[in-house]
Amino acid sequence: MMLHVWNFSPGSPSMSTMRAPLVLLVDDDPQSLKLLSDALAGQPFALAVALDGEMVLRQVRREAPDLVLLDALMPDMDGFEVCRRLQADPATRDIPIIFMTSLSDTASRVRGLELGAVDYVTKPFVRAELAARVRAQVAVRAGARALAEKNAELERAAAELARARDSLEAEVVRRTDELMATNQRLAHLNRVAAMTELATSIAHELNQPLAAILSNAQAARRLLQRSPPDVSEALLALGDIVEDDRRAGTIIQRMRAMLKKGAPRADALDLNELAREVARLVGNDALLRGATLRLDLGPRLPRVRGDGIQLQQVLLNLVVNGLDAVADRPAGGRLVVVRTRSDGKDRVSLSVEDAGKGIAQEDLERIFEAFFTTKAEGLGVGLAISRSIVEAHGGRLWAENNPGEGATFRCTLPIAEEGGV
Ligand SMILES: Nc1ncnc2c1ncn2[C@@H]1O[C@H](COP(=O)(O)OP(=O)(O)OP(=O)(O)O)[C@@H](O)[C@H]1O
Ligand SMILES: [Mg+2]
Repeated sequence: MMLHVWNFSPGSPSMSTMRAPLVLLVDDDPQSLKLLSDALAGQPFALAVALDGEMVLRQVRREAPDLVLLDALMPDMDGFEVCRRLQADPATRDIPIIFMTSLSDTASRVRGLELGAVDYVTKPFVRAELAARVRAQVAVRAGARALAEKNAELERAAAELARARDSLEAEVVRRTDELMATNQRLAHLNRVAAMTELATSIAHELNQPLAAILSNAQAARRLLQRSPPDVSEALLALGDIVEDDRRAGTIIQRMRAMLKKGAPRADALDLNELAREVARLVGNDALLRGATLRLDLGPRLPRVRGDGIQLQQVLLNLVVNGLDAVADRPAGGRLVVVRTRSDGKDRVSLSVEDAGKGIAQEDLERIFEAFFTTKAEGLGVGLAISRSIVEAHGGRLWAENNPGEGATFRCTLPIAEEGGV
């Protein structure tokens, strides 16, 4: 049996939005229960009653009262046992309990408090005192509840925030992957497009050596069929064949390197190290040409991200062009300088300056077109390939005439981000 006596007073504004607090009165004597509910009538909380321990345990689970006013001495299950069980269950542990003991029974009072009761009242009770103690505990309980609710709300908000952050991070990762994949596709398409544009010229370029090879081969056959065979002339024709074959081979090799599929390497590279390596590679050649290759390498040069072999190819092309450009200069004036510098921000520059004849103003851009060459033995693809490599690295490559004599080829590259792989 559970009896609800709704003594709800609208006086307290904080109660108006929630259900009124519920106080469970427990006593085995119905007479005492009646006295208790009379004493607590008119207070801002609802009352429920229970007559024995078993009933308390059942009702507490169902009704979740905000306070239990518990008689210590009951037959069967006494108040202490009820209290112990409520305390042992996490679901009911937080419900405050006020013990009711007889005036003379100090031991019970102490025991109740030890078991976790928040307060006690003595029987027979003074109405005003009882009401005040119950009110105080109900107010404490309401405060604790509000706090717990706020806490749960905060936890929910924090969890939501964490979820939002996680999904944002996942989205960023997904978009970055997508962009990188697109970038790689674009880089490849770029190269393919550039190559398609060149295809006609390539066919033409290859046609020349192939036609020469054919006519030289026919000539050699004729020369060898003579009696006696003209071996020395045939050898000359074969020598030309070898030369033309090499030329065709070089063209094909370079195209293949450019068309190579797949992402270029992305290592963190030290351009100073790269410059030293190139200097080692062409050192001998420069010496034979009576030219000087000087390195002017900037301090604390940040690394750039890229493909070392490709960037080495770029620098090699520029240096060889520089050496070609100073070939006509008098000995002592054949100087080529490789310079590296950091802009102190996010770029590194690499330049090759020569003391040659410079470049006609109208050719400053044309020299980057494929097969543009002014050299008898030139293919005219060095600068075209170099520019496409530099641009694939997110950089720029251009030519300028020096204020004095000669030209400077400048290349800027973005530095590798710190912490990157
Ligand atoms: N440092 C320079 N000074 C003056 N002219 C230059 C310089 N570098 C390049 N050029 C001009 O640009 C042209 C194209 O250069 P590029 O390197 O593309 O081809 P190439 O040197 O002629 O042949 P290769 O394909 O063997 O490199 C050269 O033929 C030359 O006329
Ligand atoms: Mg060249």
